[in-house]
Amino acid sequence: MLHTDVLIIGAGLAGLTCARHIRHRSVTILRPAPDDGSSYLARGGIAAAIGEEDAPEYHVADTLVAADGLAEHRAVQILANEGVDRLIDLIELSVGFDRDDDGLLHLGREALHSRDRIVHVAGDETGRHVTTAVRQELERHPNITFVDGRALELIVDDDRVCGAVFLADDGSVRVLAAPATVLATGGIGALFSRTTNPASARGEGLAMAARAGATLADLEFVQFHPTALAVNEFPQPLLSEAIRGEGARLVDESGRLLMADHPDADLAGRDVVARRLWRRLEEGVQVFLDTTCVDGFAHRFPAAYAACRRAGFDPTSQPIPVTPAAHYHMGGVSTDHWGRTTLRGLWAIGEVASTGVHGANRLASNSLLEALVFGARAGRDIAVRIRTPQELNLRRMADLCDSWHQGISHYGRLSVSPASLAKLMWRHVGIERSETGLRRALRRLDALKADLYRFDPRRLPLEAARSIAHAALQRNESRGAHYRIDYPRRADLAARRTIVANNASTTALPLCGVPDE
Ligand code: SIN
Repeated sequence: MLHTDVLIIGAGLAGLTCARHIRHRSVTILRPAPDDGSSYLARGGIAAAIGEEDAPEYHVADTLVAADGLAEHRAVQILANEGVDRLIDLIELSVGFDRDDDGLLHLGREALHSRDRIVHVAGDETGRHVTTAVRQELERHPNITFVDGRALELIVDDDRVCGAVFLADDGSVRVLAAPATVLATGGIGALFSRTTNPASARGEGLAMAARAGATLADLEFVQFHPTALAVNEFPQPLLSEAIRGEGARLVDESGRLLMADHPDADLAGRDVVARRLWRRLEEGVQVFLDTTCVDGFAHRFPAAYAACRRAGFDPTSQPIPVTPAAHYHMGGVSTDHWGRTTLRGLWAIGEVASTGVHGANRLASNSLLEALVFGARAGRDIAVRIRTPQELNLRRMADLCDSWHQGISHYGRLSVSPASLAKLMWRHVGIERSETGLRRALRRLDALKADLYRFDPRRLPLEAARSIAHAALQRNESRGAHYRIDYPRRADLAARRTIVANNASTTALPLCGVPDE
């Protein structure tokens, strides 16, 4: 058993930012693989109301419009107000944000933003540069330890989370005991066959929190990004919305503009554009992003350019085939404004959390921002609340490790491969949903789950997938990123967040999942 003051599960931008704010204590960061999180892959930027014509109120208003009636107003205000300070932290850390000829930060525009307010690093490489800068700072700090391994279960003792059981890189199952545990495990995109997320984004953190009895919220809201490169690569490379912000247009195989009839054209909300693409693809029509009019494409969007070239396309001279792909989970473990979950000793931050800032649909480039703002808040909260470690029952810990060890060493065959599970999710829990499809998905997920031992790690993604499908079935309306072909309209009376308490049945509760600070 290893001991630490604070255990952070996940080494993306949220987890690392949290650690920066508790450096005076011993902090252990458990990471599945270095440089393998969604933060590193983030191709958008960081939204911050710093332009002359901008103000946090405008950023709040845009975030609320995107969220389609379900965001927590106060959480969104915190995001917009504190975002500017978190950006300054990064500038002080010497992160080289892109600047214009006068040396001012270059501000880009993405869908549903009413002002230019997205800052980037090296065009579409913001996530990698920012996350690497924070990680490198922490790697030099004597109180911070990185441990390579995969969390399997949160330890709950006397109604309090006291650490986690994990699978270490050498194959041993061990315990990391901590008076404060932070889930920063990322999202669920890899449960779907088309995704921009890394393979590690399979909702394991969500499933662990549910098993421990934490309240979850808004699980049905999964954002599908309209423009991933349509190639056989996993994850599918993202062609940032900023490219459309620079004038690129979506066209079908006959060259017809796909979004010409929409008032916001190619910068309409992601859900609207993704659905339009999905329908054309379902009709058997290929869809392309025409980037030929974008000046300096290779220099401004180096990651997208490299991905296109790898796939044999030249985005400066030909339209590029695109597909929607699962991109971001608005739902997650319900938290207050300090990242506190409903379980004592457990905080959740970043994509695994549901802070209420995204509602039914996240505004572009608000996710790295949320990781920075709420990662810092959780760190500050933990710093003042840390308590003495709880004595753990050693016999019980040994039995728990043993059960997991058995579960890992006796893998049976799955009756359905992970790839066909991902196809099932894509078809029935994806961009367009229906009661029939969701019920079919739930039946298959239940059958699969029943095949697996509780301590088999392959059960965790299935449990996460099941919770998402179940929440989608409960919401009999279409709102934000959740679209039901059998309930195609928004039902205003349903302006409630979906809360799942203690892994029990789903109930719709009024806005605000847990008590305020
Ligand atoms: C993009 O640049 O299109 C993705 C950014 C984001 O998801 O916030």
